[in-house]
Amino acid sequence: MEAANLTDAQRVDYSMTAGEALPVAVRGAGCRIETADGRSYLDACGGAMVMLLGHCHPRVVEALARQSQQLNFTYRFSFRNEPMLELAERIAGHAPGELEWSFFNSSGSEANESAMHLAVLYWELMGKPAKIEFLSRVTSYHGSTLGALSLSGSRWRAPFESLLHKYAAVPNAETAEQGAAELEAAILSRGADHVAAFIVEPVTGSSGGAVDLPPGYLRAVREVCERHQVLLVADEIITAFGRTGRWFGVEHHDAVPDVITFGKGIGGGVLPLSGMVATRAIREVVGGAPNGFSYGHTFSGYPLGCAVGCAVIDTIEQDDLVAEADRKGAVIRSQLEQMSARHPLMYALRGRGLLQGIELRHPDSGERFAASQRITGKVTAAARDRGLMIYPCPTPILNQHMDAVMLAPPLIISDDEVAEVLGLLEESVAAVEATL
Ligand SMILES: Cc1ncc(COP(=O)(O)O)c(C=O)c1O
Repeated sequence: MEAANLTDAQRVDYSMTAGEALPVAVRGAGCRIETADGRSYLDACGGAMVMLLGHCHPRVVEALARQSQQLNFTYRFSFRNEPMLELAERIAGHAPGELEWSFFNSSGSEANESAMHLAVLYWELMGKPAKIEFLSRVTSYHGSTLGALSLSGSRWRAPFESLLHKYAAVPNAETAEQGAAELEAAILSRGADHVAAFIVEPVTGSSGGAVDLPPGYLRAVREVCERHQVLLVADEIITAFGRTGRWFGVEHHDAVPDVITFGKGIGGGVLPLSGMVATRAIREVVGGAPNGFSYGHTFSGYPLGCAVGCAVIDTIEQDDLVAEADRKGAVIRSQLEQMSARHPLMYALRGRGLLQGIELRHPDSGERFAASQRITGKVTAAARDRGLMIYPCPTPILNQHMDAVMLAPPLIISDDEVAEVLGLLEESVAAVEATL
């Protein structure tokens, strides 16, 4: 469109949608968003898996208001601050194993960048300065800054490929043994002396549609990493803090990584907040760096964000929301199973807790659709027309197009709202199925 033809509203609209304009949101409460045209949407994906506690949670809003009158910002080289120290303590209390040293940022991309910097600094201090390469999985998303995008799968890279590091990508294996063998082959192809870390999502989120790791996978790759002195980083930007029915997604597996990164939900949906938590052993090495951990951003560890993070953890603890996510996830999964028996468009179900994925395939043939059929878009649009927001995950997998959608409702969703989400989802799926 010619710039001269843009309306005032389009000039400031960064959604860049080709066709229709997106609705203008004016209010959010719990699991619902209201728009300027008077419609109400049931938010079953928290935008992009952000809302652990729903919109405008009273305790989050109250913590924000309280802290905003006391201390909003301090710079990390000048001061520590109480909310930052408290949040680090609280995270260490919930993180598995000896993961206990947190460093905070704002976005998930920054959290993964910070893990990359930490790994490089760690190996330099360990006398292995050539360990500066990273390995990640073919189907993955780790962020849009250039380091984090270099770790991410092909779907996201295309326009920026020339700016990115050419790291090796490890296939998303179907078994633990295959995963370990493929990781080891990738490490050896680069030379173990060059590989700093391997990063993996406990449940592949937006790029796969809630795909679990195969049983035993994390332990198998953990062993490979130890054998070759490669750090294991779990990207829990989506899965941390109860989303999967455990405090951290890695707790579904019998292995603990060296670093976990987190983001999205910890900011309570009111502020950008992310971070990483690393082992005591890494902390001890990096603590010996002449300039300490010199990576960071202006807002790293800012008190306002960290106070909100503490309120999010308080609420999850007090309302037992990790167990609730487990319970409601099981209810949703069993209902989805019944629904998929009625609607073969819902070809496969996966995910954990309140992160549930549905792969969509042709109801008659069980084949995947062509990308040009835009099935994911049709299902999410049918849902939106009915006032239900679900997350679209159309993805290239092994040179094929895959259609999938995800449900990732707030952990505070009520049983009635769960029933409403499932009812609207079934109507939406049925409407698209009827056109095939
Ligand atoms: C698994 C994962 N890692 C990292 C990111 C990047 O987070 P952000 O968009 O906050 O930079 C995302 C965002 O969707 C994500 O899903």
